[in-house]
Amino acid sequence: MRRSVLIGTGSALPRRALSNDELAKQVDTSDEWIVERTGIRNRYVAAPDETTSSLGTEAARKAIAAAGIDAGSIDQIVLATATADQTFPASATIVQDALGCNGGIAFDVAAVCSGFLYALGVADSMLRTGMAERALVIGSETFSRILDWEDRGTCVLFGDGAGAIVLEAREEAGDKPRGILTTKLHADGAHNQLLFVDGGPSTTGTVGKLRMKGKEVFRHAVVNLSEVLKEVAADAGIATEDIDWLVPHQANARILDATARKLNLPPEKVIITVDQHANTSAASVPLALDVAVRDGRIREGDLVMLEAMGGGFTWGASLIRM
Ligand code: UT7
Repeated sequence: MRRSVLIGTGSALPRRALSNDELAKQVDTSDEWIVERTGIRNRYVAAPDETTSSLGTEAARKAIAAAGIDAGSIDQIVLATATADQTFPASATIVQDALGCNGGIAFDVAAVCSGFLYALGVADSMLRTGMAERALVIGSETFSRILDWEDRGTCVLFGDGAGAIVLEAREEAGDKPRGILTTKLHADGAHNQLLFVDGGPSTTGTVGKLRMKGKEVFRHAVVNLSEVLKEVAADAGIATEDIDWLVPHQANARILDATARKLNLPPEKVIITVDQHANTSAASVPLALDVAVRDGRIREGDLVMLEAMGGGFTWGASLIRM
């Protein structure tokens, strides 16, 4: 059976780290409040010369190097972002040109924090149907550009960064095939005003700032995520206890704890980077995945569950055998 096999991961962070204590000098908050309510201790903030496409390109280069392939062999780039360099063209085309793999498919996907899961679903479908052979799936964000730095309810929660993976179409046989096994994606537009940006090209003609009703997002996140994780496990014919690693969207440590409890997964099986990177939206899942691959926790053959939930609402999960 033709499957999309993950053959390399990479990530990139802006040069500048911003701690809770530093942030507390700019806005009425404290390290204590942020750590207790979210688990976040640090985030990275992009300088003017660091963009969604430059961070995405750096992450992609590392993923390509890890895969041991030539960048020219990439024939599909799907980049998930809510903070594109420009309204158009797609940031994926800027990454494509920087990598020198021009000529294949390149486009952006907008599903905010679930963007990487959506991009993965699209790339996997196109690989399995033969539209491409080798795909780069990237999540890259510069959320610092759309934060209201005077709103303590949101500016403490987000950070910038990028993560990337290389997928290769391969014929996989046997009872433990490698590759993406199942992906489930959902959206419920009835909640699109709980987490949104108050601007855009077709309304205000401006970029706008992020607005969020945090408590309500939190409540929906725990329910939606545990449901979609169970849906993916059932579809793949496994028990949630069989998952080797859960790589969740890194929004809030309390959401991660609640989700793991609902799945009967011990905390040691959950990859957590929210303390170091905060919420990097579409970048958070591939960034956390790369951290755990590089530190040796996630290895070939492991059963890894990815999940995310974000503005729209959108949410989804994907089960991969590494
Ligand atoms: O990636 C997309 C998904 N996004 C999320 O998953 C975010 C989900 N939501 C959350 O993570 C949490 O709801 C927050 C971390 C945003 C907020 O935590 P909370 O426990 O729901 O706090 P709250 O909003 O109910 O605020 C509690 C108090 C309020 O004060 P009063 O009204 O009780 O006096 C806030 O004004 O904390 C205050 N507060 C702060 N205090 C210090 C809000 N932000 C801050 C802050 N520093 N940064």
